[in-house]
Amino acid sequence: MNPTDVCLLSGTAHPALGESLSQVLGVPLAKRILDRFPDGELRVHLEEDVRGRDVFLLQSVCAPVGDHVLELLLLADACRRSGAARITAVLPYFAYARQDRREGSGDPLGAAVLARTLGEAVDRIVTVDLHSPAIEGSFPVPMEHVSAMPLLQQHLGTAGGQRVVVSPDVGGLKRAERFARELGAPVAVVHKSRLSGAEVKAGGLVGDVQGASPIIVDDMISTAGTIEAAVHVLLDQGCAPHITVCATHGLFVGPARDRLAKLPLERVVITDSLPPPADLPVPLETASIAPLLADTVRRLHADGAA
Ligand code: R5P
Repeated sequence: MNPTDVCLLSGTAHPALGESLSQVLGVPLAKRILDRFPDGELRVHLEEDVRGRDVFLLQSVCAPVGDHVLELLLLADACRRSGAARITAVLPYFAYARQDRREGSGDPLGAAVLARTLGEAVDRIVTVDLHSPAIEGSFPVPMEHVSAMPLLQQHLGTAGGQRVVVSPDVGGLKRAERFARELGAPVAVVHKSRLSGAEVKAGGLVGDVQGASPIIVDDMISTAGTIEAAVHVLLDQGCAPHITVCATHGLFVGPARDRLAKLPLERVVITDSLPPPADLPVPLETASIAPLLADTVRRLHADGAA
């Protein structure tokens, strides 16, 4: 790719991923100032000429979400006003995606609000394993929804004897079915109900896990309540004591650390869509999504240049 046509800009949410993407693409990160005014307001300044260039703006929309969103909006505005030919926001993790439906009257549609706000600032969005693909309909601009699941499968490899892919809830069944098809393994699903933001309750299991090594597949691990509940159901149902968890986004918030420490997990495989968690008491393995994002950037740039 020609760095005079393409500009790669990173926000402050996940600098390490910005560096990896820059290396894989062979495009340097554009120089910019991102700090604060004395009163705490964000200060953004581009130190590079973006006029006429195809700008890719990387920002994982993770905590503190408000600051990271605003930083992205300010960067996009600076690029627009400086004459960028096209602006694509690359959002490896998209927060608020679980607020994709209203529990009842009085609730907002958080996912739609964020999709609209970000979509209005740029020309295109790239995101990875959205909690619900239906959120695409809320973006006012074209969206590229890429999946890290093939990457996680590749990372897992083929060893492991008799395996069963498990969706820890009904909402993730399609994802688990696709994963199982690729591995040539059967699928099982746990019936989960959510009691609160951090508490879930697992009901029954559909599928046979007796003697098999489960691979639990999910889009994200947040408080690890979902994983904890699924593991208990699987052990009750006689699975082999070799449990793997695969998830695209590892948030590991609140009680996640304590919950995971008590579980007999053999492997926990995530991607680097979010900054790495510090000292997690699990056998954590991370597959980088930088090559996947780089392929997407190359393809979108080629499409636009054609
Ligand atoms: C929910 O539907 C998602 O797919 C995840 O299962 C969930 O968000 C994980 O959250 P936690 O780790 O807090 O249970």
